[in-house]
Amino acid sequence: MFKVTPDHREASNKFIKHDSNMLKQIYGTDDVTPYWIADMEFPIASPITQVMQELVSRETYSYEFDSQTVFNAISNWNQKRHGLTLDPKQFVQVPGVLSAIALLIREFTEKGDGVLIQTPVYHQFRRLIESAGRKAVSNTLNIADGRYVMDFDALESQLRDNNVKMILLCNPHNPVGRVWKPDELQKLVAIAEKHQTLIVSDEVHADVVFEGNTFTSIASFDYDNTITIIGSPAKNFGLNSISNGYIYSANTELKDQIKATVASMSLDHGNVFTTRATIAAYEQGEAWFNDFVQYTQRNRDWILAFMREQLPQVTVFEPEGTNQIWFNFSGLNLDSAALKSVLVDRAKLALTPGTWFGEPDENFYRMNFAAPLEQIQNSLLQLKKVLS
Ligand SMILES: Cc1ncc(COP(=O)(O)O)c(C=O)c1O
Repeated sequence: MFKVTPDHREASNKFIKHDSNMLKQIYGTDDVTPYWIADMEFPIASPITQVMQELVSRETYSYEFDSQTVFNAISNWNQKRHGLTLDPKQFVQVPGVLSAIALLIREFTEKGDGVLIQTPVYHQFRRLIESAGRKAVSNTLNIADGRYVMDFDALESQLRDNNVKMILLCNPHNPVGRVWKPDELQKLVAIAEKHQTLIVSDEVHADVVFEGNTFTSIASFDYDNTITIIGSPAKNFGLNSISNGYIYSANTELKDQIKATVASMSLDHGNVFTTRATIAAYEQGEAWFNDFVQYTQRNRDWILAFMREQLPQVTVFEPEGTNQIWFNFSGLNLDSAALKSVLVDRAKLALTPGTWFGEPDENFYRMNFAAPLEQIQNSLLQLKKVLS
Protein backbone atom coordinates (compact mmCIF):
# COMPACT_ATOMS: atom_id res chain seq x y z
CA MET A 1 0.00 0.00 0.00
CA PHE A 2 2.88 2.39 0.77
CA LYS A 3 4.24 3.82 -2.50
CA VAL A 4 7.49 5.72 -2.90
CA THR A 5 6.55 7.76 -5.94
CA PRO A 6 3.26 9.36 -6.86
CA ASP A 7 1.47 8.56 -10.10
CA HIS A 8 1.62 12.23 -11.10
CA ARG A 9 4.66 14.34 -10.34
CA GLU A 10 3.50 17.55 -12.02
CA ALA A 11 2.04 18.95 -8.82
CA SER A 12 5.41 19.04 -7.10
CA ASN A 13 6.47 22.37 -8.59
CA LYS A 14 3.67 23.97 -6.58
CA PHE A 15 5.08 22.65 -3.32
CA ILE A 16 7.02 25.15 -1.24
CA LYS A 17 9.86 22.67 -0.95
CA HIS A 18 10.38 22.67 -4.74
CA ASP A 19 9.37 26.26 -5.44
CA SER A 20 11.94 27.80 -7.72
CA ASN A 21 11.68 31.34 -6.32
CA MET A 22 11.90 30.08 -2.79
CA LEU A 23 14.97 27.97 -3.55
CA LYS A 24 16.66 30.89 -5.29
CA GLN A 25 15.89 33.13 -2.34
CA ILE A 26 17.35 30.69 0.19
CA TYR A 27 20.13 28.98 -1.77
CA GLY A 28 20.79 31.43 -4.61
CA THR A 29 19.85 28.74 -7.16
CA ASP A 30 17.02 26.33 -7.90
CA ASP A 31 19.44 23.73 -9.25
CA VAL A 32 19.35 21.75 -6.01
CA THR A 33 17.58 18.69 -4.62
CA PRO A 34 15.36 19.93 -1.80
CA TYR A 35 15.74 18.35 1.63
CA TRP A 36 14.90 21.43 3.65
CA ILE A 37 11.23 21.69 4.64
CA ALA A 38 9.91 18.93 6.93
CA ASP A 39 7.24 17.30 4.79
CA MET A 40 7.17 14.02 2.90
CA GLU A 41 6.77 13.54 -0.83
CA PHE A 42 5.27 10.07 -0.74
CA PRO A 43 1.67 9.52 -1.86
CA ILE A 44 -0.61 9.43 1.18
CA ALA A 45 -2.46 6.35 2.45
CA SER A 46 -5.19 5.25 0.05
CA PRO A 47 -8.06 5.24 2.63
CA ILE A 48 -7.47 8.98 3.03
CA THR A 49 -7.54 9.56 -0.73
CA GLN A 50 -10.74 7.52 -0.90
CA VAL A 51 -12.64 9.60 1.68
CA MET A 52 -11.46 12.79 0.00
CA GLN A 53 -12.68 11.54 -3.36
CA GLU A 54 -16.04 10.64 -1.83
CA LEU A 55 -16.35 14.17 -0.49
CA VAL A 56 -15.53 15.68 -3.87
CA SER A 57 -18.07 13.43 -5.58
CA ARG A 58 -20.73 14.48 -3.12
CA GLU A 59 -20.73 18.03 -4.54
CA THR A 60 -22.25 19.49 -1.39
CA TYR A 61 -20.54 21.19 1.50
CA SER A 62 -23.20 22.09 3.99
CA TYR A 63 -22.01 22.96 7.48
CA GLU A 64 -20.66 19.76 8.95
CA PHE A 65 -18.65 19.50 12.17
CA ASP A 66 -17.48 16.23 13.62
CA SER A 67 -14.65 16.95 16.00
CA GLN A 68 -15.76 14.36 18.59
CA THR A 69 -15.15 11.50 16.14
CA VAL A 70 -11.68 12.91 15.46
CA PHE A 71 -10.91 13.08 19.18
CA ASN A 72 -12.05 9.47 19.61
CA ALA A 73 -9.87 8.39 16.67
CA ILE A 74 -6.81 10.21 18.06
CA SER A 75 -7.37 8.73 21.52
CA ASN A 76 -7.70 5.19 20.16
CA TRP A 77 -4.57 5.61 18.04
CA ASN A 78 -2.51 6.83 20.99
CA GLN A 79 -3.78 4.03 23.21
CA LYS A 80 -2.83 1.45 20.64
CA ARG A 81 0.54 2.86 19.56
CA HIS A 82 1.87 4.44 22.73
CA GLY A 83 -0.21 2.91 25.54
CA LEU A 84 -1.27 6.49 26.24
CA THR A 85 -4.75 7.04 27.65
CA LEU A 86 -6.26 10.33 26.49
CA ASP A 87 -9.81 11.32 27.43
CA PRO A 88 -11.58 12.32 24.17
CA LYS A 89 -13.47 15.01 26.11
CA GLN A 90 -10.29 16.88 26.97
CA PHE A 91 -9.32 17.93 23.42
CA VAL A 92 -9.72 21.30 21.73
CA GLN A 93 -9.41 21.59 17.97
CA VAL A 94 -7.58 24.47 16.28
CA PRO A 95 -6.45 25.11 12.69
CA GLY A 96 -2.85 23.89 13.12
CA VAL A 97 0.00 23.15 15.47
CA LEU A 98 1.58 26.56 15.06
CA SER A 99 -1.70 28.38 15.55
CA ALA A 100 -2.18 26.25 18.70
CA ILE A 101 1.18 27.40 20.05
CA ALA A 102 0.51 31.04 19.12
CA LEU A 103 -2.84 30.91 20.86
CA LEU A 104 -1.46 29.26 24.01
CA ILE A 105 1.34 31.81 24.28
CA ARG A 106 -1.20 34.63 24.17
CA GLU A 107 -3.61 32.89 26.52
CA PHE A 108 -1.19 31.88 29.27
CA THR A 109 1.58 34.50 29.24
CA GLU A 110 1.74 38.29 29.23
CA LYS A 111 3.74 40.64 27.02
CA GLY A 112 7.36 40.67 28.20
CA ASP A 113 7.15 37.25 29.91
CA GLY A 114 9.73 34.62 29.11
CA VAL A 115 8.90 31.48 27.13
CA LEU A 116 11.61 28.85 27.32
CA ILE A 117 12.76 26.88 24.27
CA GLN A 118 15.50 24.27 23.99
CA THR A 119 17.77 25.31 21.15
CA PRO A 120 18.58 24.30 18.51
CA VAL A 121 14.85 23.91 17.93
CA TYR A 122 12.21 24.28 15.21
CA HIS A 123 12.65 27.88 14.12
CA GLN A 124 8.98 28.88 14.19
CA PHE A 125 8.92 28.62 17.99
CA ARG A 126 11.06 31.73 18.37
CA ARG A 127 9.07 33.58 15.72
CA LEU A 128 5.76 32.82 17.46
CA ILE A 129 7.10 33.87 20.86
CA GLU A 130 8.68 37.10 19.68
CA SER A 131 5.84 38.13 17.40
CA ALA A 132 3.56 37.89 20.44
CA GLY A 133 5.82 40.34 22.28
CA ARG A 134 7.20 37.66 24.64
CA LYS A 135 10.85 36.88 25.30
CA ALA A 136 12.35 33.65 23.94
CA VAL A 137 14.60 32.25 26.67
CA SER A 138 17.06 29.82 25.13
CA ASN A 139 17.88 26.75 27.21
CA THR A 140 20.63 25.40 24.93
CA LEU A 141 20.84 21.62 24.64
CA ASN A 142 24.19 20.01 25.44
CA ILE A 143 25.93 17.26 23.51
CA ALA A 144 27.05 14.31 25.62
CA ASP A 145 28.39 11.05 24.16
CA GLY A 146 27.29 12.06 20.70
CA ARG A 147 23.73 12.92 21.51
CA TYR A 148 21.79 15.93 22.66
CA VAL A 149 20.71 16.18 26.29
CA MET A 150 18.86 18.79 28.33
CA ASP A 151 20.78 21.18 30.56
CA PHE A 152 18.70 20.91 33.75
CA ASP A 153 20.94 23.20 35.85
CA ALA A 154 20.57 26.04 33.37
CA LEU A 155 16.85 25.28 33.08
CA GLU A 156 16.38 25.62 36.81
CA SER A 157 18.17 28.97 37.01
CA GLN A 158 16.40 30.26 33.90
CA LEU A 159 13.00 29.47 35.38
CA ARG A 160 14.04 31.23 38.57
CA ASP A 161 15.66 34.31 37.03
CA ASN A 162 14.05 34.98 33.65
CA ASN A 163 10.35 35.39 34.43
CA VAL A 164 9.61 32.25 32.41
CA LYS A 165 5.88 31.52 32.35
CA MET A 166 5.90 28.69 29.84
CA ILE A 167 8.22 25.92 28.69
CA LEU A 168 7.71 25.09 25.03
CA LEU A 169 8.92 21.52 24.70
CA CYS A 170 9.53 19.77 21.39
CA ASN A 171 9.11 15.99 21.70
CA PRO A 172 10.31 14.27 19.56
CA HIS A 173 12.77 17.07 19.02
CA ASN A 174 13.11 18.78 15.66
CA PRO A 175 15.90 19.12 14.45
CA VAL A 176 18.13 16.97 16.68
CA GLY A 177 15.91 13.86 16.55
CA ARG A 178 15.79 13.04 20.24
CA VAL A 179 12.76 11.19 21.58
CA TRP A 180 12.89 12.31 25.19
CA LYS A 181 13.09 9.46 27.71
CA PRO A 182 10.74 9.20 30.72
CA ASP A 183 13.54 10.04 33.19
CA GLU A 184 14.52 13.17 31.23
CA LEU A 185 10.91 14.32 31.07
CA GLN A 186 10.43 13.49 34.75
CA LYS A 187 13.31 15.82 35.66
CA LEU A 188 11.88 18.56 33.47
CA VAL A 189 8.46 18.14 35.05
CA ALA A 190 9.92 18.22 38.58
CA ILE A 191 11.69 21.53 37.87
CA ALA A 192 8.60 23.00 36.20
CA GLU A 193 6.45 21.91 39.13
CA LYS A 194 8.84 23.46 41.64
CA HIS A 195 8.51 26.79 39.84
CA GLN A 196 4.84 26.26 38.88
CA THR A 197 5.65 26.74 35.21
CA LEU A 198 3.26 25.62 32.50
CA ILE A 199 4.64 23.05 30.03
CA VAL A 200 3.34 23.14 26.46
CA SER A 201 4.59 20.09 24.58
CA ASP A 202 4.59 20.07 20.77
CA GLU A 203 4.26 16.38 19.93
CA VAL A 204 3.53 16.68 16.20
CA HIS A 205 6.34 14.18 15.45
CA ALA A 206 5.15 11.69 18.13
CA ASP A 207 4.50 8.72 15.88
CA VAL A 208 7.65 8.77 13.78
CA VAL A 209 9.82 6.88 16.25
CA PHE A 210 12.44 4.31 15.26
CA GLU A 211 13.15 0.84 16.62
CA GLY A 212 14.55 0.78 20.12
CA ASN A 213 12.88 4.08 21.08
CA THR A 214 9.55 4.73 22.75
CA PHE A 215 7.58 7.92 22.66
CA THR A 216 6.50 9.30 26.06
CA SER A 217 3.94 12.09 26.06
CA ILE A 218 4.02 14.89 28.59
CA ALA A 219 0.34 14.02 29.09
CA SER A 220 1.39 10.81 30.86
CA PHE A 221 2.92 12.70 33.82
CA ASP A 222 1.17 13.48 37.02
CA TYR A 223 1.53 17.26 36.76
CA ASP A 224 -1.65 19.13 36.02
CA ASN A 225 0.04 22.18 34.53
CA THR A 226 0.67 20.66 31.10
CA ILE A 227 -0.83 21.16 27.68
CA THR A 228 -0.06 18.74 24.88
CA ILE A 229 -0.40 19.36 21.17
CA ILE A 230 -0.91 15.86 19.93
CA GLY A 231 -2.68 14.07 17.13
CA SER A 232 -1.92 16.21 14.11
CA PRO A 233 -1.70 13.96 11.03
CA ALA A 234 0.66 16.43 9.31
CA LYS A 235 3.97 14.68 9.82
CA ASN A 236 2.90 11.06 10.13
CA PHE A 237 0.36 10.96 7.31
CA GLY A 238 1.72 13.64 5.00
CA LEU A 239 -1.29 15.93 5.40
CA ASN A 240 0.77 19.09 5.87
CA SER A 241 -1.33 21.51 3.90
CA ILE A 242 -4.67 20.20 5.19
CA SER A 243 -3.90 19.33 8.79
CA ASN A 244 -5.47 20.56 12.01
CA GLY A 245 -3.98 21.03 15.46
CA TYR A 246 -5.31 19.23 18.52
CA ILE A 247 -4.71 20.65 21.97
CA TYR A 248 -5.05 18.32 24.93
CA SER A 249 -5.03 18.94 28.65
CA ALA A 250 -6.18 16.55 31.36
CA ASN A 251 -6.65 19.68 33.48
CA THR A 252 -10.29 20.61 32.86
CA GLU A 253 -9.79 24.18 34.02
CA LEU A 254 -7.03 24.73 31.44
CA LYS A 255 -8.96 22.88 28.74
CA ASP A 256 -12.14 24.91 29.36
CA GLN A 257 -10.21 28.17 29.25
CA ILE A 258 -8.60 27.22 25.92
CA LYS A 259 -11.89 25.99 24.53
CA ALA A 260 -13.66 29.23 25.42
CA THR A 261 -10.98 31.35 23.76
CA VAL A 262 -10.90 29.17 20.65
CA ALA A 263 -14.71 29.28 20.42
CA SER A 264 -14.72 33.06 20.90
CA MET A 265 -12.64 33.33 17.73
CA SER A 266 -14.69 30.66 15.91
CA LEU A 267 -11.55 28.66 15.33
CA ASP A 268 -12.96 25.35 16.57
CA HIS A 269 -14.86 24.08 13.56
CA GLY A 270 -12.23 22.51 11.37
CA ASN A 271 -13.24 21.71 7.83
CA VAL A 272 -14.78 18.57 6.49
CA PHE A 273 -11.78 17.52 4.35
CA THR A 274 -9.36 17.76 7.23
CA THR A 275 -11.78 16.10 9.61
CA ARG A 276 -12.51 13.13 7.36
CA ALA A 277 -8.88 12.78 6.34
CA THR A 278 -7.78 12.69 9.96
CA ILE A 279 -10.39 10.09 10.91
CA ALA A 280 -9.45 7.92 7.91
CA ALA A 281 -5.75 8.24 8.78
CA TYR A 282 -6.13 7.11 12.36
CA GLU A 283 -8.83 4.52 11.78
CA GLN A 284 -7.65 2.95 8.52
CA GLY A 285 -4.11 4.15 7.93
CA GLU A 286 -2.06 2.01 10.29
CA ALA A 287 -0.76 -0.51 7.75
CA TRP A 288 0.40 2.32 5.48
CA PHE A 289 1.92 4.14 8.43
CA ASN A 290 3.92 1.10 9.56
CA ASP A 291 5.35 0.75 6.05
CA PHE A 292 6.16 4.46 5.94
CA VAL A 293 8.10 4.33 9.23
CA GLN A 294 9.89 1.19 8.11
CA TYR A 295 10.86 2.86 4.83
CA THR A 296 12.18 6.02 6.46
CA GLN A 297 13.99 3.95 9.09
CA ARG A 298 15.81 2.22 6.22
CA ASN A 299 16.68 5.66 4.80
CA ARG A 300 17.99 6.72 8.18
CA ASP A 301 20.06 3.56 8.56
CA TRP A 302 21.52 3.91 5.08
CA ILE A 303 22.48 7.56 5.70
CA LEU A 304 24.07 6.73 9.08
CA ALA A 305 26.10 3.84 7.66
CA PHE A 306 27.15 5.76 4.54
CA MET A 307 28.21 8.90 6.37
CA ARG A 308 30.07 7.01 9.09
CA GLU A 309 31.94 4.82 6.60
CA GLN A 310 32.42 7.17 3.67
CA LEU A 311 32.45 10.63 5.21
CA PRO A 312 33.65 10.18 8.79
CA GLN A 313 34.74 13.84 8.94
CA VAL A 314 31.04 14.72 9.19
CA THR A 315 29.38 14.17 12.56
CA VAL A 316 25.92 12.66 12.23
CA PHE A 317 23.42 12.61 15.09
CA GLU A 318 21.33 9.47 15.01
CA PRO A 319 17.64 10.38 14.92
CA GLU A 320 15.64 8.38 17.47
CA GLY A 321 12.53 9.81 15.86
CA THR A 322 11.39 12.39 13.26
CA ASN A 323 12.40 12.27 9.60
CA GLN A 324 15.12 14.83 10.17
CA ILE A 325 18.83 14.15 10.48
CA TRP A 326 21.30 16.64 11.92
CA PHE A 327 24.84 17.01 10.57
CA ASN A 328 27.89 18.85 11.89
CA PHE A 329 30.30 19.54 9.03
CA SER A 330 32.97 21.23 11.18
CA GLY A 331 35.36 18.31 10.58
CA LEU A 332 35.68 19.47 6.97
CA ASN A 333 37.45 22.62 8.20
CA LEU A 334 35.71 24.91 5.74
CA ASP A 335 34.53 28.42 6.44
CA SER A 336 30.78 28.92 6.15
CA ALA A 337 30.87 30.33 2.60
CA ALA A 338 33.06 27.47 1.37
CA LEU A 339 30.83 24.91 3.09
CA LYS A 340 27.72 26.42 1.55
CA SER A 341 29.36 26.33 -1.87
CA VAL A 342 30.28 22.65 -1.45
CA LEU A 343 26.76 21.72 -0.34
CA VAL A 344 24.74 23.90 -2.68
CA ASP A 345 26.80 24.63 -5.80
CA ARG A 346 28.70 21.37 -6.07
CA ALA A 347 26.69 18.66 -4.28
CA LYS A 348 23.37 20.36 -5.23
CA LEU A 349 21.95 19.78 -1.78
CA ALA A 350 19.31 22.08 -0.30
CA LEU A 351 19.70 21.30 3.41
CA THR A 352 18.27 23.52 6.15
CA PRO A 353 20.94 25.75 7.72
CA GLY A 354 21.29 25.03 11.43
CA THR A 355 21.35 28.76 12.14
CA TRP A 356 17.62 28.82 11.40
CA PHE A 357 17.12 26.75 14.55
CA GLY A 358 19.20 29.02 16.76
CA GLU A 359 22.41 27.01 16.33
CA PRO A 360 25.21 29.62 16.30
CA ASP A 361 27.76 27.29 14.64
CA GLU A 362 27.34 27.59 10.86
CA ASN A 363 28.65 24.05 10.35
CA PHE A 364 25.30 22.50 11.31
CA TYR A 365 22.64 21.52 8.75
CA ARG A 366 19.43 19.48 8.83
CA MET A 367 18.32 17.02 6.16
CA ASN A 368 14.77 15.75 5.74
CA PHE A 369 14.98 12.10 4.75
CA ALA A 370 11.29 11.45 4.05
CA ALA A 371 12.26 11.10 0.40
CA PRO A 372 12.94 8.22 -2.02
CA LEU A 373 16.05 6.30 -0.93
CA GLU A 374 17.55 6.27 -4.41
CA GLN A 375 17.38 10.07 -4.55
CA ILE A 376 19.07 10.34 -1.13
CA GLN A 377 21.75 7.87 -2.21
CA ASN A 378 22.51 9.84 -5.36
CA SER A 379 22.69 13.09 -3.39
CA LEU A 380 25.08 11.78 -0.75
CA LEU A 381 27.23 9.95 -3.29
CA GLN A 382 27.56 13.29 -5.06
CA LEU A 383 28.59 14.91 -1.78
CA LYS A 384 31.24 12.22 -1.29
CA LYS A 385 32.51 12.79 -4.85
CA VAL A 386 32.75 16.54 -4.29
CA LEU A 387 34.67 16.03 -1.05
CA SER A 388 37.09 13.44 -2.48
C1 LIG B 1 7.93 20.70 15.82
C2 LIG B 1 6.98 21.21 14.78
N1 LIG B 1 5.85 21.84 15.17
C3 LIG B 1 4.96 22.31 14.26
C4 LIG B 1 5.17 22.19 12.91
C5 LIG B 1 4.18 22.75 11.94
O1 LIG B 1 2.90 22.34 12.24
P1 LIG B 1 1.61 22.93 11.47
O2 LIG B 1 1.97 22.98 10.03
O3 LIG B 1 0.50 21.99 11.77
O4 LIG B 1 1.31 24.28 12.02
C6 LIG B 1 6.34 21.56 12.46
C7 LIG B 1 6.64 21.46 11.03
O5 LIG B 1 7.72 21.15 10.61
C8 LIG B 1 7.25 21.05 13.41
O6 LIG B 1 8.38 20.42 13.05
